[in-house]
Amino acid sequence: MSLSHETIQSIKETIPLINQEAENVTTRMYDIIFSKYPETKPLFADATSDQHKKLAGAIAAFAGNVDNLPALSNAVEKMASAHVATNVQPQHYPMVADALITAMGDVLGDTFTQERKNAWVEGYTFLAGVLMQREQQLYAQNG
Ligand code: HEM
Repeated sequence: MSLSHETIQSIKETIPLINQEAENVTTRMYDIIFSKYPETKPLFADATSDQHKKLAGAIAAFAGNVDNLPALSNAVEKMASAHVATNVQPQHYPMVADALITAMGDVLGDTFTQERKNAWVEGYTFLAGVLMQREQQLYAQNG
């Protein structure tokens, strides 16, 4: 699977908006995920206090390199090992998707148009697929 030119374009259009609001988006995202999906809370039990900044950085880096995935491979390795260390599983991905996309809508308002929203759902699904595949490899290796 790869992302269409239109999808990449729509994601890139949102980069300045995300960069301005990244911390608000991730803070809102955690509010939503912990209240709506409390089963995710224990995964973050040992989360460092700069987790918000890391996630904000990952979102911005992802958006900036969405058409240049090799530039993301170091970040993918770091994310996958953090996820395996905290036992993140495939069923958690739709929960984060829901929380993230809802948070973006709440924080960005009308500028997060339906077209941009669709693009982000597609982009998130793409990155989630890359991460889940790598994480399953690591889980299998760790036996
Ligand atoms: C495409 C989706 C996702 C992205 C972009 C993402 C991004 C990240 C990043 C950048 C880190 C920090 C890695 C580091 O330490 O350098 C991280 C850690 C983590 N993520 Fe994700 N993540 C995603 C999906 C998920 C899901 C589905 C869950 C489960 C609810 C999750 C839970 C965690 C946890 C528990 C940590 C470790 C927190 C800590 O120890 O600070 N993530 N993620």
